[in-house]
Amino acid sequence: MDDCLKRLERRFLNMYPLKLLSPDVLESEGIEVCDELYENLCNLLSYQKEQDTVFKHYILDDTSSTCISLKESRNIISQGTTGLHSWQAAQALADWCVSHSEELRDKEVLELGSGVGLTGITTVLCCELRSYSFSDCHAAVLSTLCENVLLNLSTPNEKDCHRFVGNVTKTTDNTLLRIKHKNTDVAVMNLPWADVTKNTVPEVDFVLAADVVYDTSTFTELCQALKNLLHYQKTVAIIACTVRDQNTLQQFLHTLAQYEIKIVQIDVPSSRPTHFLLPQDVLVNIYRLQSSGQ
Ligand SMILES: C[S@@+](CC[C@H](N)C(=O)[O-])C[C@H]1O[C@@H](n2cnc3c(N)ncnc32)[C@H](O)[C@@H]1O
Repeated sequence: MDDCLKRLERRFLNMYPLKLLSPDVLESEGIEVCDELYENLCNLLSYQKEQDTVFKHYILDDTSSTCISLKESRNIISQGTTGLHSWQAAQALADWCVSHSEELRDKEVLELGSGVGLTGITTVLCCELRSYSFSDCHAAVLSTLCENVLLNLSTPNEKDCHRFVGNVTKTTDNTLLRIKHKNTDVAVMNLPWADVTKNTVPEVDFVLAADVVYDTSTFTELCQALKNLLHYQKTVAIIACTVRDQNTLQQFLHTLAQYEIKIVQIDVPSSRPTHFLLPQDVLVNIYRLQSSGQ
């Protein structure tokens, strides 16, 4: 029965391309989209599973044309998450980091909602950091992230550790992987934002996050996590937000302000310089956040 339904859904998808039904398209026409449509759309997209996992190669426009290979999903939503696909905000944030490599030199960095790792892997390869901690909370995202970190940042010996990282839910410690890339300590952590409490926050110089601002129901825990992380005077957060819906973004900025976080939008030229040989066709705003007590 389930199989029959899936086949029908697929036929439906072939007849009515999702692009035309996309809430973005409907919303741009001024049509209000009900939550049920979003939910069903997510379910339909999630049916297209394993065979849609691919390796994408990101070539950096540096002297040695560094190539980053990431295992990721071709679908924007897969296994019920948006985290198995690299988003353009991840590329924009990586561009910011590479352009600020002097500011990041020898610093400790924590990334929230890392997804498959594009921002962090680029930053570790291009900036001489002291440490970089990737984090996320979704089991499939975390295990793909571990694979991508090992693939791009480990030495041949460390690649042998791969088999120990498979089941991310079984670990007691929230650190799933620790390796060294040149002089940088690299870790992958299972870190839901709700778990970033005052007692558990690591003291880092930079907190990074790309494309984590889209679901208003998560704003309170995300802003509380940021407030706790920014509690240390030295800590700065750099957040890259894709501008899909101005209201959602404004609501996030308003919530941040309620948590006494000072927000400065970083002036990025409209055709921002990029270190990737890839087009950029969406607007991404980058914000620098600090505790307003400073
Ligand atoms: C749109 S994806 C962005 C992934 C990546 N930063 C990028 O830009 O390609 C959002 C990510 O945030 C993660 N995320 C969502 N809610 C979270 C939470 N409460 N705690 C930790 N991570 C979360 C998701 O698992 C997902 O990987």
